[in-house]
Amino acid sequence: MWGPGWRAPGLARRGCVLRWLGLKVCRRSTLLFALLWFGCWLVLNGMVFVHRSIFSDFCTDDKSKRILQRVCEEYQEGVLTGDLCEDLCIRGEVEYKRCLYYENGKKVMAADWRGVPVVLKSKLENFSSYEALALLEYQDTAGGPGLDEELSPLDVVFYATLEIKNSLGLETGTNITLPRLWGQRLREKERTYSRAELASLWALLQQEEYTFLRVLQDLTHHVAKVLGSCGHFYAVEYLAAGHAWDQNIFSLEELSVNPSPRAWGGNGRTWEERDMVPRVALSFLEMVGHFEHDFSHHLHLCDIKPENFAIRNDFTVVAIDVDMAFFEPKMQEILEQNCTTDSDCNFFDCVSKCDLKRKKCGSKRKNSNLQVICEKIFRPWFSPTLLGAKAGLPLQVELQRAVQECIETEGGEDVEHGRAVRQRLLGLLKQLIEEESRKQQKSAPQETQHVHTALNF
Ligand SMILES: Nc1ncnc2c1ncn2[C@@H]1O[C@H](COP(=O)(O)OP(=O)(O)O)[C@@H](O)[C@H]1O
Ligand SMILES: *[C@@H]1O[C@H](CO)[C@@H](O)[C@H](O)[C@H]1NC(C)=O
Ligand SMILES: *[C@@H]1O[C@H](CO)[C@@H](O)[C@H](O)[C@H]1NC(C)=O
Ligand SMILES: *[C@@H]1O[C@H](CO)[C@@H](O)[C@H](O)[C@H]1NC(C)=O
Repeated sequence: MWGPGWRAPGLARRGCVLRWLGLKVCRRSTLLFALLWFGCWLVLNGMVFVHRSIFSDFCTDDKSKRILQRVCEEYQEGVLTGDLCEDLCIRGEVEYKRCLYYENGKKVMAADWRGVPVVLKSKLENFSSYEALALLEYQDTAGGPGLDEELSPLDVVFYATLEIKNSLGLETGTNITLPRLWGQRLREKERTYSRAELASLWALLQQEEYTFLRVLQDLTHHVAKVLGSCGHFYAVEYLAAGHAWDQNIFSLEELSVNPSPRAWGGNGRTWEERDMVPRVALSFLEMVGHFEHDFSHHLHLCDIKPENFAIRNDFTVVAIDVDMAFFEPKMQEILEQNCTTDSDCNFFDCVSKCDLKRKKCGSKRKNSNLQVICEKIFRPWFSPTLLGAKAGLPLQVELQRAVQECIETEGGEDVEHGRAVRQRLLGLLKQLIEEESRKQQKSAPQETQHVHTALNF
């Protein structure tokens, strides 16, 4: 809300008053203009607010609680289940906090689960809105014997794997690790799945985000942890998301709600945003490396902006909005379009070249995750305007050059060059972090004034 649009008129007016005191030449019209600007800004913000409350079904605590209550009713009827259900519905160990987001039916709410802040999510409000598992329906109509006798755990795993691969756009030959939860069940040979378990599993698998997170859980720590589920709702760890409207990258206040001891500087000193930036940037680079090499397919992020990432309080960067993340096979499928110019081959942040002879876009992505992160995230962070007085320091200048080089380096073409660019950034960031910590050790430990850092204007 309090973005640059708000500050500009304020500054204009302040400048005006100063001049008034000094030269007495400030024109009334300047003041009027500034006021008009401020007025417009207010009206615009008001409109955005009204739009949000009318067109996205407004998110109220009442509604959220009713939704969770329905989940619990269905749990008690034996329709759905999950490892979160007992705590949510019987023991009262899940405390609803507030709703975060309701759009297109998607429900996102904040809660505390046994004292741990979590986010409860579901793509659709009602369990019944999800497609039922065809096998269950077949059982119903056939009126056959209990399902448990028919469907072995192996079958379930087989169907679940198919569904996962389908949803992530992976070839059937691909090796993916099956989510731990169900994998373990396999070992208990006697264990069969209840109706509620199967129905819940199916509702979850229909949510691409859940499937995606679940598959990547054990492979990288750069995606949100899935902590549990009840029916169609799943709980992920609560994180501090980046903001679109603020140059503040990630708000520390949000994190300090739940400080973990290892994340905070020693001697009770907390991190300041200034120190955070290179650390968070470093984690971004690590994430890029992970997504490029750690899975059987390269993972492409096609919607890169601060609000789609979050950090844990150890500064790990986490991709929270994975709706626009695609593995290589799916990426190629998306990019292969008919085209007449290169601009027809842009899919958000993922672009390829138009082959003018074939009139088809290349299936290989031309730019890279790193390139876009450099352009959309690093450039603003390390820009002269944000660094302020520090912008002229040699290390900072060097870093700006490295970021610029990164922006200009196409992905794919020259792998070696791409790696060199990443190494250079990595080295500079590590140097910067070392320098900062050396400076902090030198300066008196009592220095606790809240500096209005460059990231904080
Ligand atoms: N793990 C999380 N921790 C804190 N806030 C979250 C988390 N996941 C989502 N949110 C908040 O909920 C909002 C919507 O969630 P998201 O899943 O990104 O919806 P969509 O995919 O429709 O954009 C986000 O903008 C973010 O502010
Ligand atoms: C969800 O179920 C409730 C009660 O059964 C119903 O009133 C509501 O309209 C349903 N919502 C959607 C989106 O289907
Ligand atoms: C799939 O994974 C298994 C076990 O992890 C491994 O033995 C096998 O070689 C893998 N297959 C391929 C094609 O990667
Ligand atoms: C692309 O062009 C081919 C012919 O050149 C046409 O057959 C095909 O339907 C087109 N595809 C799309 C998605 O427009």
